[in-house]
Amino acid sequence: MSHKPFKAVIPAAGLGTRFLPATKAMPKEMLPVVDKPAIQYVVEEAVAAGIEDVLIITGRNKSNIANHFDSVPELEHTLRTKGDDARLAAVLEASDLADIHTLRQGEPKGLGHAVLRAQRHVRDHPFAVMLGDDLIDARDPLLTRMLDEYDRHGATVIALMEVDPEHIHLYGVAAVEPTDDGDVVKVTGLVEKPSAADAPSNLAIIGRYVLNPAIFDVLEHTGPGKGGEIQLTDALQEIAADPEQGVYGVVFRGRRYDTGDKVGYIKAILQLAIDRDDLSGELRPWLQDFAADL
Ligand code: UTP
Repeated sequence: MSHKPFKAVIPAAGLGTRFLPATKAMPKEMLPVVDKPAIQYVVEEAVAAGIEDVLIITGRNKSNIANHFDSVPELEHTLRTKGDDARLAAVLEASDLADIHTLRQGEPKGLGHAVLRAQRHVRDHPFAVMLGDDLIDARDPLLTRMLDEYDRHGATVIALMEVDPEHIHLYGVAAVEPTDDGDVVKVTGLVEKPSAADAPSNLAIIGRYVLNPAIFDVLEHTGPGKGGEIQLTDALQEIAADPEQGVYGVVFRGRRYDTGDKVGYIKAILQLAIDRDDLSGELRPWLQDFAADL
């Protein structure tokens, strides 16, 4: 690896309107998935892939996120005094995870704008953008694979997933060509939220990107796109069209939980809870009975 170490940027400054009123005073990335906020899973994923420097782009409820990754001496003291080691370890885990920084987006002008705000922190490092409401199961290490592909091709890498035509209008969608690796495609074009008829493929962009700092020059002149927002997809389209740069896609076939959507959020809690030794004993038979009565 000849480049500087990868950093991670987690944009968490969206308005989260699909979760109102829960997100009135709390970012959707802080909604608990079993017993951890969604964004903690994402930071853990970055750390598992070897990234030590994480920048979270925050919105109007910044303090919630910053406080979660900070130490809480009085809580730690109480748990220590009580001898509650398991809960103390859980509390310490969040504050010991990585070198975590936060930065305000200012106005929520879109994902591309949130990423551009990271420029001064990222400088000349390659970096991963990880959406704070998109969870990838720790047993399916997508980000590690993407960092490897970045090193192999020396080019931008995005994560793609096959999506049914009725849901394709919710995603950025890639036009692709095969490579000699069945899990990797060359991206020849990108469209943000196309209709099913206009979608160039069934491969949708999911919330993981590994970017070269050259993206910042592109984002600086990227104007508002779909929904009046500055779209990361539009900037990536420009990079994909540049023969000297190019974009590759890793086709992910593992477990992903979209916690930015109500049904996805409920599914994520059930799927992750059922896999937990401390919860599945009671939850599994209840769920089976419950489902049998539906
Ligand atoms: P979404 O479109 O899913 O988030 O953005 P949203 O706008 O908060 O959600 P709804 O549709 O109103 O419910 C994808 C990701 O980009 C971040 C969001 O926090 C989310 O992680 N984002 C989006 C920003 O950080 N800034 C923005 O201006 C927009």
